[in-house]
Amino acid sequence: MGPRARTLHLLFLLLRALTKPAELVENSDFHLAGDYLLGGLFSLHANAKSVSHLNYLQVPKCNEYDMKVLGYNLMQAMRFAVEEINNHSTLLPGVLLGYEMVDVCYLTNNIHPALYFLAQEDYFLPLLKDYSQYMPRVVAIIGPDNSESTITVSSLLSYFLIPQITYSAISDKLKDKRRFPAVLRTVPSANHHIEAMVQLMLHFHWNWIVVLVSNDSYGRENSHLLSQRLGSTGDICIAFQEILPRPEPGQAMGPEEQAQLDNILDKLWRSTARVVVVFSPELTLHNFFLEVLRRNITGVVWIASESWAIDPVLHKLTELRHTGTFLGVTTQRVFIPGFSEFRVRRAKSGHPMLNKTNLKATCNQDCDACLNMTESYSNVLMLSGERVVYSVYSAVYAVAHALHRFLRCSQVHCTKETVHPWQLLREIWHVNFTLLGNQLFFDQQGDMPLLLDIIQWQWDLSQNPFQSIASYSPIEKRLTYISDVSWDTPNNTIPLSTCSKSCQPGYMKKPVGLHPCCFECLDCQPGTYLNHTADEFNCLPCPGSMWSNKNDITCFKRRLVFLEWHEVSTIVVAILAALGFLSTLAILFIFWRHFQTPIVRSAGGPMCFLMLVTLLLVFGMMPVYVGPPTVFSCFCRQAFFTISFSICLSCITVRSFQIMCVFKMARRLPRAYGLWMRYHGPYVFVVFVTAIKVTLVAGNMLATTINPTARTDPDDPNIMILSCHPNYRNGLLFNTSVNLLLSVLGFSFAYMGKELPTNYNEAKFITLCMAFSFTSTISLCTFMTVHDGVLVTIMDILVNVLNFLAINLGYFGPKCYMILFYPERNTSAYFNSMIQGYTMRKS
Ligand SMILES: *[C@@H]1O[C@H](CO)[C@@H](O)[C@H](O)[C@H]1NC(C)=O
Ligand SMILES: *[C@@H]1O[C@H](CO)[C@@H](O)[C@H](O)[C@H]1NC(C)=O
Ligand SMILES: *[C@@H]1O[C@H](CO)[C@@H](O)[C@H](O)[C@H]1NC(C)=O
Ligand SMILES: *[C@@H]1O[C@H](CO)[C@@H](O)[C@H](O)[C@H]1NC(C)=O
Ligand SMILES: *[C@@H]1O[C@H](CO)[C@@H](O)[C@H](O)[C@H]1NC(C)=O
Ligand SMILES: *[C@@H]1O[C@H](CO)[C@@H](O)[C@H](O)[C@H]1NC(C)=O
Ligand SMILES: *[C@@H]1O[C@H](CO)[C@@H](O)[C@H](O)[C@H]1NC(C)=O
Repeated sequence: MGPRARTLHLLFLLLRALTKPAELVENSDFHLAGDYLLGGLFSLHANAKSVSHLNYLQVPKCNEYDMKVLGYNLMQAMRFAVEEINNHSTLLPGVLLGYEMVDVCYLTNNIHPALYFLAQEDYFLPLLKDYSQYMPRVVAIIGPDNSESTITVSSLLSYFLIPQITYSAISDKLKDKRRFPAVLRTVPSANHHIEAMVQLMLHFHWNWIVVLVSNDSYGRENSHLLSQRLGSTGDICIAFQEILPRPEPGQAMGPEEQAQLDNILDKLWRSTARVVVVFSPELTLHNFFLEVLRRNITGVVWIASESWAIDPVLHKLTELRHTGTFLGVTTQRVFIPGFSEFRVRRAKSGHPMLNKTNLKATCNQDCDACLNMTESYSNVLMLSGERVVYSVYSAVYAVAHALHRFLRCSQVHCTKETVHPWQLLREIWHVNFTLLGNQLFFDQQGDMPLLLDIIQWQWDLSQNPFQSIASYSPIEKRLTYISDVSWDTPNNTIPLSTCSKSCQPGYMKKPVGLHPCCFECLDCQPGTYLNHTADEFNCLPCPGSMWSNKNDITCFKRRLVFLEWHEVSTIVVAILAALGFLSTLAILFIFWRHFQTPIVRSAGGPMCFLMLVTLLLVFGMMPVYVGPPTVFSCFCRQAFFTISFSICLSCITVRSFQIMCVFKMARRLPRAYGLWMRYHGPYVFVVFVTAIKVTLVAGNMLATTINPTARTDPDDPNIMILSCHPNYRNGLLFNTSVNLLLSVLGFSFAYMGKELPTNYNEAKFITLCMAFSFTSTISLCTFMTVHDGVLVTIMDILVNVLNFLAINLGYFGPKCYMILFYPERNTSAYFNSMIQGYTMRKS
């Protein structure tokens, strides 16, 4: 059967059921005659397990169930609103609104009243092709209270486009206006309730909660919405979710239900979650809380869904105050003047309401106990003020305003024409009016964006039992706190409800189990840090130039190290370099003074000055090794010194070569010797060698870079070594090999002339100098491979200084000694005698 066929089938049943219409009871609480009737559906009685009435073909006897005080309260609100509108001179002037109200007994009795409203005065509902001109008994319907009933009823009413305004059905399904074209509501939808709840929990840092739900669509839908909302962020985890057992009405719990409840409470007892969200109609909760009290469970924060957040009957269990703190989500409180008195106003005495035999066929429209029961709760109801009541009240006003517009009422007069429900529906969508200070209208989804409140239960007799602590605006989706919560804890501290204690700063969370809320705290290792706002589960590595200590939340800049002036090694090397510089100056001076003497000329003559000036520059440039490296100092370190060294070497080599030429080549190859002399061969050679060297160094530099780099020290991560490019080592080896080649050349020339007079023979010196230079460079490179740091720079500068000192003192030193202390040997005569002696020995 499709929905249409099912509806028609129901209509057929109705026609049979209504064959014996009963008379209306005059002056009943449930009925008021008027020009236009509104239907009202309320739960005055409630039956949790609503199957028994399906066993027999009768309207259920609702008055056998427990009375629902709040339901009666809401019904009174509708009566009050209609009466007030009728008294009102400017809203619907001259028009009398009437009502027909039926007790739907929560879920038990939905279809029957709906059919009753659809039928006409003669209890007859015709089967028509077109219902647009059909006039049902009522023009609009207020209610029912819960979503399940609202959906059931609306599946009938939507067929006739009868406006239905519910005052507390929050289900998200009702948003679907293709399915429920005629359903509007004066309460924010469920996801706003959930959002308010979640924001409340986030505010108090509860992330480990228990969810208890009723075994019906209310419990299932809302818990599903909650887990969906929580799943989207992962800030709050559900420790466990359980379905509350539902006993038969009027019966004690069976063993099965008792076991189920025991199990739930055991789990709650063992859990570290202290926040319990309960989505259930209040029907199931009485038994549950009695059991909670019996088990002496304490220290729990109970979060009530709107279904029981302001239930005066549960609140009357004053012992509950010892079980913890009760918070709840409900609609805002609006004071309705005069309603408190109206709620318990007795109808005029002597009314024939209790004429039992004259009851209407539809529903047990009598409630002998209602007024007396409400009176007994009068104090709590009065103190708690009007919350859901205001939703009913505004629903009635919304219909009245729509009717007012549709009837084109002036201040004093209305047209009183026929109103078809579907015409009224169109008007209701567009109402926009102010009621007791609130601007009321329906949004696109047919919801009135009324505020929600977070309330706390109080048992202080003189206070509002449902004190507002925060207010939630569905438009802004934000919770604003109004007053402090008084907790059930020593010193009024906020109760904790977390799976794991939150980690200290700098500790990362390691998930334990499935929930992101359960974790261990682990140290963040040095070199990593934890950014709580970005990622609590991973320690992030510090950027290259930074470092962190264990469990740091930020990284610090590493200390940059380089050779500094105040270090002992720097001072030692600087002294050596200064010595070298001064001695070079002295040698330069001595050589200049004795420029024309044979020793100076045999040492190379003008070429000595090239070497000496180079040496002077080199010693003068030593400070480039100290201080943070720059492009310039790296350039000097990698190019200038090695080129200078090559210049010196090539000078020495060419000088050895010349000495050999003097004695050998001049004799054997006079033409080549002539050319060599004519074109300043020695200088060409030095320039040539230098050019080659410059090319090689430049090539090496282009291949790598000379930018200074910062490298971490594997031994001490707190520091960062600033040095020239690390490939420098390869360049160094390469340069040394070129120098080696040069010195081998120089050495072979010197060796060839080893029999020369001692004052010409530098073979020993060159061998020594080269051996030193070579071994020092090799050891420097070896050192560089194993060590990385300032020490390398010190070694580098030391090797350079010593190499140049060796040239300086080894080559020029003996000559100066001769010049200064043996001036008699620094004469042409002495040199000639030496050469003659040599040639005589040769021949
Ligand atoms: C409506 O007016 C009547 C008569 O004046 C009065 O008794 C009743 O309390 C009024 N009702 C409301 C809801 O104001
Ligand atoms: C609860 O507490 C009462 C009195 O404090 C005690 O008599 C009772 O045995 C306790 N019940 C449980 C289940 O612990
Ligand atoms: C109900 O009460 C009225 C008078 O209050 C009486 O006239 C009528 O007969 C009663 N109905 C039945 C069915 O007894
Ligand atoms: C309600 O209370 C009144 C007096 O307060 C009493 O006369 C009446 O019998 C009570 N009704 C019921 C149904 O208990
Ligand atoms: C309702 O009316 C008020 C003032 O008359 C206006 O500011 C508001 O925008 C209206 N709202 C809607 C939804 O039409
Ligand atoms: C409550 O406060 C008092 C004094 O301020 C302190 O000594 C005590 O430890 C606190 N108790 C708790 C449970 O925090
Ligand atoms: C932490 O992460 C946030 C967001 O990614 C960022 O704005 C903030 O600067 C970070 N803080 C630190 C100390 O890195």
